[in-house]
Amino acid sequence: MNRRSFLRANGIAAGSMIAYSALGSTASVLGNMAKDQKKKIRYAMVGCGHRGTGTWGKEVVKGGYKDVVEFVGFCDTNPGRLKFALRETQTDCPVFSDFDEMIKQTRPDVIMITTPDGTHDHFIIKTLEAGVDVITEKPMTTDENKCQAIIDAQNRTGRKVTVTFNYRYSPHRAKIYELLRSGEIGDITSVDFNWYLDVYHGADYFRRWHGYRKNSGSLLVHKATHHFDLLNWWIASEPKEVFAYGALEVYGKNGPFRGKNCRSCSHKSDCQFYFDVTKDKRLMDLYVENEHHDGYFRDGCVYREDIDIFDKMAVQIKYMNDVQVSYSLTTYSPYEGYRIAFNGTKGRLEAWIKERQPWEELENDDVLQLTTSFGKTRLIRVSPKPGEHGGGDPLLIERVFKGGTDTLRQEAGVREGAMSILIGIAARNSIDTGKPVKIESLTSLKPKESTII
Ligand SMILES: NC(=O)c1ccc[n+]([C@@H]2O[C@H](COP(=O)([O-])OP(=O)(O)OC[C@H]3O[C@@H](n4cnc5c(N)ncnc54)[C@H](O)[C@@H]3O)[C@@H](O)[C@H]2O)c1
Repeated sequence: MNRRSFLRANGIAAGSMIAYSALGSTASVLGNMAKDQKKKIRYAMVGCGHRGTGTWGKEVVKGGYKDVVEFVGFCDTNPGRLKFALRETQTDCPVFSDFDEMIKQTRPDVIMITTPDGTHDHFIIKTLEAGVDVITEKPMTTDENKCQAIIDAQNRTGRKVTVTFNYRYSPHRAKIYELLRSGEIGDITSVDFNWYLDVYHGADYFRRWHGYRKNSGSLLVHKATHHFDLLNWWIASEPKEVFAYGALEVYGKNGPFRGKNCRSCSHKSDCQFYFDVTKDKRLMDLYVENEHHDGYFRDGCVYREDIDIFDKMAVQIKYMNDVQVSYSLTTYSPYEGYRIAFNGTKGRLEAWIKERQPWEELENDDVLQLTTSFGKTRLIRVSPKPGEHGGGDPLLIERVFKGGTDTLRQEAGVREGAMSILIGIAARNSIDTGKPVKIESLTSLKPKESTII
């Protein structure tokens, strides 16, 4: 029996958040609320930047969810982006610079948190304390103390937190999950996982707020939270111990010259990382038009001397069920994508997923290769769905607002949000100290051997 049918069978009102949260379930309760109470979900948002106004704003409107969701308030420290959010969502809801005021005046059912990562804890805890449910963008937060404070706040309030791990929803990743559960490669014993961000997308993290640990927790948290969450989900266990290396060797202080931002830079013609933001209308409207409010440059210099995150990272993870993982993240690769291989007692499942490359790619599908030991190999082709992140975003939005049976365990709450960031936080601490870090030393959560009930 899945959680949804458990609710039905036990006559627990779908809108009863405390009962539902106690079961650890996540997103689809919002869909139930709309259906059962025949009223729209009162939905407020803090952080009206790229992700907030796009995926959780315009795409919600475009996806036809306006009969389920009512935008009741937007909050941002930048008044220009608040205006942009209203335009993008064709909404005229009230806007706020003060988060407490937004909660007080709009009485939302749920608040979407799409501010920079290092601020999530502040908004998650305030929302829970106000008796309101949370949907937060990944990473849930950026360090172990903030993580513990979120765990405590959820325990105290019994409210529900959904962490939006869109990567779980891409069709080829769901297929990997199914193939691993089928047992064809036997028990998973180890995983080789290498993620390559290219010189365009990778560099972009060093242009923006992400370049500072205090904002992003480093890319071991901001970016790798996606990858560690996929591992936790695919392996169906929780991490036990982490050891890591990392360094900053290309961006930041390593550059031969630097400026404040690309538009004002005297090295435009010499710099391979020169980025002309004026060619992108959305970025102009969202950031450049609003620079005068907060001084934030979307085209910041990738060679700023105070950048304090790593640009190459290697992490070893040991899981509670003894699976060993070798993971790496490179941020200046000539092409973008990832390679993964699951080694099992009866075979191997692998993939090289190319997201952008300077050669013509003939294959449109994502191709998985499954080879059984002493046996045969077969290719499994999975067509990406339309939409961002290999079609993951529209499927996630649908799950959040309309519900559905969580057959593949794609929904995620505080525990899943914590287990993914704790690997990145442990890795960061390990790089700083040169020592392995036990996950159980970071928060009150005790990692489990199996996450399948
Ligand atoms: N799941 C994904 O694939 C995905 C993709 C992109 C971003 N994200 C996540 O979404 C979040 C937002 O990222 P983004 O790219 O939209 O960033 P962004 O810089 O475009 O937007 C952040 C917004 O928050 C506002 N803000 C900053 N501090 C604030 C505060 N204290 N109070 C109110 N507003 C504040 C800024 O003015 C800005 O409008 C991040 O947590 C990021 O990790 C997730």
